[in-house]
Amino acid sequence: MTFTSVLSALFVVLPVLAQPVGQRLAPYVPSPQEVIDRMLELAQARQGDTVIDVGCGDGRILITAVQKFKARAVGIEIDPKIAAQASDTILKLGLQNKARVVRADVFDADLSQADVVTLYLTTSFNEKLRPKFEQSLKPGTRVVSHDYGIRGWNPVEVEEVFVHGRRHRIFLYVVESKKN
Ligand SMILES: C[S@@+](CC[C@H](N)C(=O)[O-])C[C@H]1O[C@@H](n2cnc3c(N)ncnc32)[C@H](O)[C@@H]1O
Repeated sequence: MTFTSVLSALFVVLPVLAQPVGQRLAPYVPSPQEVIDRMLELAQARQGDTVIDVGCGDGRILITAVQKFKARAVGIEIDPKIAAQASDTILKLGLQNKARVVRADVFDADLSQADVVTLYLTTSFNEKLRPKFEQSLKPGTRVVSHDYGIRGWNPVEVEEVFVHGRRHRIFLYVVESKKN
């Protein structure tokens, strides 16, 4: 291999390696099952709906959406190990026709098919996501967020759920039609 061909190869490879793979903007902390059930009830998730869990962790919201609410579910997860674990669980449960996990940064993900979006992130992460939600979510999409609200949006409902003495809050939003 000549020096020139090595240099040419580097010109091809380096920009790919340098591409940002996204930023993990929230740690992995699973929502308790009681909170998940209530989130999906408040969002009125049902058969025919697509539920997208942004930062899906081990996939527990996806699994509940499919098994208890008869919806389809898509999880977006930036962490490759956690995403693989969630995909594995979905496969083991035989839910692969109803649920899938996309290993991606949410900022690169397509959310336009969602009827319900579930979040357990942080206040600042939600704030960063708000423009994407406003641009890509269709009117009527229900957005439910565990513990952290979306600044600048008015919740339709805020509910408290107590699990083992710890208070969890659930914020429900409904995406409005775009104003001209
Ligand atoms: C608090 S956990 C919530 C897990 C799950 N949704 C639940 O409620 O049980 C947040 C998840 O978001 C993921 N995450 C953080 N930043 C992300 C990003 N930029 N894009 C996609 N997922 C991200 C983390 O890896 C983590 O698994």
